Formats: sequence, C-alpha cells, structure tokens
Amino acid sequence: MSDHNQVKLTTMDYSKDRPTAENPVKIQDLSLRDGHQSLFATRGRTEDMIPVAERMDEVGFWAVETWGGATFDTMHRFLNEDPWERLRTLKRYMTKTPFSMLLRAQNLVGYRNYADDLAEAFVERTSENGLDIFRTFDALNDYRNFETVVRVIKKCGKHFQGCICYTMTEPRLGGDVYNIDYYVNKAKDLEAMGADSICLKDMAGLIAPYDAYEIIKALKATVKPPIHLHSHFTSGMSPMSHLKAIEAGVDIIDTCMSPYAYRTSHAALEPLVMTLLGTNRDTGFDIKQLAEINEIFEKKVMPKYKHLLDDSKVSIVDINVLLHQTPGGMLSNLVNQLREMDALHKIDEVYKELPRVRKELGQIPLVTPTSQIVGIQTVNNVLFDDDKERYKMITGQVKDLCYGLYGKTAIPIDPDIQKKALAGYPRGEEPITCRPAEVLEPELEQAKIDTEGLAEDIDDVVTYAIYPVTGKRFLKWKYGKEDPPVEVKPRTLEEIKDEEELVKLAKLGKLVRKVEKKGPPKTDALRTFDVFVDDEYFEVGVEEPGGSPIISYVQQLPAGVPVSAPAPAAPVAAPAAPKPAAPAAPKPSAPAEPAPAPPKPEAPAPAAAGVEGTPLKAPMPGMIVKYVKQVGDAVSKGETVVILEAMKMENALSSPAGGAVKAINFSSGDSVAKEDVLCVIG
Ligand code: CO
Repeated sequence: MSDHNQVKLTTMDYSKDRPTAENPVKIQDLSLRDGHQSLFATRGRTEDMIPVAERMDEVGFWAVETWGGATFDTMHRFLNEDPWERLRTLKRYMTKTPFSMLLRAQNLVGYRNYADDLAEAFVERTSENGLDIFRTFDALNDYRNFETVVRVIKKCGKHFQGCICYTMTEPRLGGDVYNIDYYVNKAKDLEAMGADSICLKDMAGLIAPYDAYEIIKALKATVKPPIHLHSHFTSGMSPMSHLKAIEAGVDIIDTCMSPYAYRTSHAALEPLVMTLLGTNRDTGFDIKQLAEINEIFEKKVMPKYKHLLDDSKVSIVDINVLLHQTPGGMLSNLVNQLREMDALHKIDEVYKELPRVRKELGQIPLVTPTSQIVGIQTVNNVLFDDDKERYKMITGQVKDLCYGLYGKTAIPIDPDIQKKALAGYPRGEEPITCRPAEVLEPELEQAKIDTEGLAEDIDDVVTYAIYPVTGKRFLKWKYGKEDPPVEVKPRTLEEIKDEEELVKLAKLGKLVRKVEKKGPPKTDALRTFDVFVDDEYFEVGVEEPGGSPIISYVQQLPAGVPVSAPAPAAPVAAPAAPKPAAPAAPKPSAPAEPAPAPPKPEAPAPAAAGVEGTPLKAPMPGMIVKYVKQVGDAVSKGETVVILEAMKMENALSSPAGGAVKAINFSSGDSVAKEDVLCVIG
C-alpha cells in the first residue's frame, strides 16, 4: 500500500484552518437513484429532485447518480414520466457535476439481454441526453456482455466504469468460487477492457469491513484505474466497511444524503465528512451546505414519500442478510410473492431451497436480474414441486439462463436441470457457449415498425423496444391517446396534509369504518327517503321484497349537497371535514434493487359467461404478456397458451386440456389475480 493512501491525522485548529487534503476521498451521491430506489421503490419524481439539484451541484461530488437501475422501468410504468426527459431536465440544473447511471450491460435497463443494435442505440441516446459515467455491470460478471456497450461508451467519449458484483457463498469472503483471486482477476479483466475506473459493487451490503480492506488493498496493488466501493447499508456493516476501504486506499465511495440513507439504502455522507475532517483524506465538503440540502429533503420532499417507507420493522438493520447472504430486496420480494399466494408459512422452506437452486443454476451472483431469476424459481419449486418431481414450473428466464442467454455461470449448471429446462426450448436444446448477444436477432427495426404513428423520436422507440407492453402504454399516455390512471399522478403537499388530517381524525375515533355489503339489485319498487342523524344526512332507498320492507341502500351525502326531489330540509351545518384525499398509493413491494411488483388488479374478471370447458387459471398474480393462442385455435394438452409475467419473470402457462380455445378473458397488459380464469379450453 502506498503511503499516499494512508489515513493520517493532522493537528490543527479546525475553527480556523482546513487545509486541502493531500488525497481527498471522492464521493458519488446516490440519493437521486439508488437512494430512493432502495428506500421507496424508485418512486422519486423529477419535480422533487429539482429543489435540491442546484445546491447539490455545488457540493463537489465526484458524480451524482441520476439514472439507470430501476428508474427507467418505474418512471414510465408507475410515474407517467419520460425517463429521457429526467436526464435533460436535471442536466439544466446540474451543470458542473458529472452524471452517472447504473447500466445492466447488455440488459441495459431491463431484465434480459437485448440485441446489439438496441444496446448501441440505447448507449448513444443516453450519452446524447446528458449521461457522463456509465457504471456497467453484468449479473454473471461475464464481461463478454460488456463488449457492445463499452465500444459505444468509448466512442461517445464517456467514462466507462466496470463493476465487479460482490457476492459470496460463505459468511465471509472465501470459498471455492468467490475468493480474493476471483475479484483480483475480474479487476484485471476490466483494466484490460479499458475501464476508466473499477467499482466493487456490493449490492446486498454483504461486504464485511476486514474483507473490504483485503480486497481493496489487493485491487490497489494490482490494477491502475481508480477503485470505487458501492455498498448498501442493509446488514449494518457498510459505514465500517467504508472506513476500512478508505484505510486500504479506496479512491471513491458511494453515499446518500442522510434523509435517503440507511436501511436498505447506503451509509450517510455527513458522518463520513466529519470522520475524515482534518485527515489527509478529508473530502473538503462543507457540512453546513449539506445541512441546507437535508432541510429541503426533509421539509419539501420526504413528506410526499414517507408513506412508502417500509415501517413494518423498527430495526434499520436487516439481520436476514447476515443470516442468508442474500440481497435484502430479494428477500422482501420473496416474502411479498409468498404473501400474495397465501403461502407465507413456507418462507423457511424458501430459505432452505434458495442456496440449493442457486448452486444448481451455476452459483451465480444475486443481483438484478439474477436475484429475481433464482428467487422466483425457488418460490415456484417450493409451491409447485412434490416428492416425485422438482422444477415442475420452470420460468422462461431460467430456461434462457440454462441456454446461455445471460452468459457464463460461475460454475456449470446442473446438467439434469439444464436438460429439463431446455426440452422443447425454441432456440434449441443444446446450450450455447458464445457471447449471448451473438444469437440475438436485431430488434430495433421491428420496434420502429411496431411504434409507427406513435413514437415521435428514437428515444420513444428505444423505450418501447425495452418495455413493449408498458412502454407502449406510456407512449399512449405521453401523446394523449389514452388517459393515464389516477395512480400515476403526482401527489401534492396539500393532499398529504389532508390525508394526515384524516389519520388524525381516525386516531381520535372520529372516523367510522365503512362496511361494504352487497345488496340485492334495486327494482322499480324502490322508494327513497331522506334521513337525518344528528348533523349527518343520508339518502335511504327502501323496497319491499316478499312482504317485509328491507333497507336496500344507505348513501351518506356530504352535508350541504343539494339532492334531487323531494328537497330535504336544509341540513344542519356539519363540522368542516377535510376534503377527501386521493387514495394513498399502494405501498410498493420492492424496496431495493429488484423491480417493483405489478400493481394489484382491481377486481378479478369473471370467466366468459356461458362458456363450457376446462378453465386455465392463473397460478399466481401477474400481468398478461400475451396470448400465444387465440379464440378458435386448436391446442393440445401441455401446449403453451398464455405468457404470464409474475415478479418480472415470464411463465409459459400450458393448456390443461386438449381442444380449442373457447374464450379469452384478458388481453396483453392486463393484471390478473391468482385463480383468475385466463381462458377456457373446450
Ligand atoms: Co445499489
């Protein structure tokens, strides 16, 4: 280790002088991407980043992460925001600090490997829209998946940061696969690819302080590019790991502004600034300036998002990460998935099955999308397998992984499982060994054709190409061809205040629970009465089936609202009630790296009336990707009829019987509940 990097304390009068550090630790801020992705499922809106943007530009960050990861998905799916527009908008407010993004290599900002032509267009457009640093990772650490994007990053004159995904199979660094040699060799590969910096990406908060020290020391001794540590707080170890990494000579550290820090997010910046004050690695940041930014976050921004924070636990440390060496977000996704299937009691079986599935699938790192691939397959195994047969329901993504479409796994995939997964696989039953994108047909031209008359520029086409179903829906919202639903609209501070008023009233016992009860259908015999109870006015419908009168409906009306004849007596002035606020957005279920779960369907659609036959029911809640068969098509038993996306994994659902498709109850993009009848075969 060079002396240059050793942390040295200076004796000085801090109130008077603060000499510029010899080798300041550089800081990248993550609040505007990974921070809100980790804490409130990436729901942060651009309008809530603008109030802090100019001030953050003054801090002196090495970079601010503003894009990538789940932002692209969440923005167009849940926020009705154009992801490209965020880059351009923020760039107007932040003119000095470089922008960085998290790029999933050939997966771009989606969940599968895309063809080279799309990958090239994506990087070019991202660069053109204002991105400077491309933090690039591949879930399998297979750097062949970097080749295409890196070529374009370099061509655009941008910074290529190569990532090594940090993962482990033991409680500490070591074992046969992910040991120190593994990380050193990966860093050498990245240096050889021309990495401008190298990031050790600890997405699950697994890295222990002394392991961080050993690895950073080894990397600094082996490769020349600056070393950057990205670690999540999840397990509680990251502030300690940061300090040990700094002692080992790390160049750049990722942190969040304190309102966006801790839990599954990252260590806060402010304590680190104070820790390093007066050392040769002093960041030089002005703590008062940081406090001002925090104040804006606290008062103007966080009130809008507080309801999305996971307040189900008091502890800010996730012990499960220490127990299972698995990303916290992945575990909470599994819990949500099980809960939706009424199978939460099987969580211990899932914990037991998970390392087994991971090993069988090639001991791959667990990060988006591999964390979902392994996680959902594990859930499927626990729910659908029996003593006689394992891997009864294999997701489309596991089949792709077995084929080699994601790249090379750390150890070979279990050959029996691979064979089973590839039986009848459309690309072929023999797995490939080449760079995955080599077998992918170009897809940009088709996307242009598909979006003709809808997309107005290449950015729109790329959005659609990466997200065909939700991307198309977004473009319809964007160009006024379809009304966006109320859930995607932003909430104002006034609405938040109204809601808080309601909560206050409820806590005082002044709100009553409304009991939903379905009555018989109304008939012509219905008579309407006005009823007043104290200050409250009700319109009551009464009718008399079979002799005795029953109350058919009671509708509470807001005081003062005129009703149709007969005119009621003027209602007594009721105490001012807050205006009803928009329903609170449902709590998103994915607090960390993995993408948010699809929204819950409004109500299960009934099977088409009068259709006889065998129903194909949704085995899990999800979203219809497409029907492979149409009404009238002949199907044989076991043939794929519909593709259902659940937790971002595509599941091919096969026909329960032979015959013809008699009825189809949903269409592409629809959300369905478990047990919904998707179609009828007869
Ligand atoms: Co992260």
